[in-house]
Amino acid sequence: MEKTLIIFKPSAMERGFVGQIINRFQQKGLVICGIKMMRLSEELLREHYAHLVDKSFFPVLLKSMMASPVIVMCLAGKDVINVVRLMTGATNGRDALPGTIRGDFSASNQENVIHASSSPEDAAAEIKRFFKDEEIFEWTPANLKYVYSELEID
Ligand code: TYD
Repeated sequence: MEKTLIIFKPSAMERGFVGQIINRFQQKGLVICGIKMMRLSEELLREHYAHLVDKSFFPVLLKSMMASPVIVMCLAGKDVINVVRLMTGATNGRDALPGTIRGDFSASNQENVIHASSSPEDAAAEIKRFFKDEEIFEWTPANLKYVYSELEID
């Protein structure tokens, strides 16, 4: 099954929303295949946000992402990259629709509680960036046959 990478940003950690957000992913039927806590270094963030290093807001983004430890998580599911981006909502929490994670937990363009991979290429690179191979678990929960129909599971 497809995999994606989530980061619980310091805004989720400090405000104590990790459990509620994980609950949403589990309710949707997504499978946790890796999870750990870490501090993000400037070097790692420069790689992760390489597309943003020249933006004027980059120093604020760096500071915000390093303000506390974060939790990184790998989720698996059918079309999981798109499903999680839809659940996450728009970048700016003030534009994110109610019902999305950012729409319900954020009112900020920076302190927007989670990161979620935006494409298959990014997801593959990000999972490799944050996890060692042995930290990713390939497993199939017994109830997966009630999450997807037999037509949907490869
Ligand atoms: P980006 O990759 O464009 O968005 P997303 O997180 O929705 O994939 O931006 C990465 C992070 O950079 C974003 O979550 C918050 C921060 N950011 C700002 O602080 N200001 C901005 O104007 C933008 C576009 C992003």
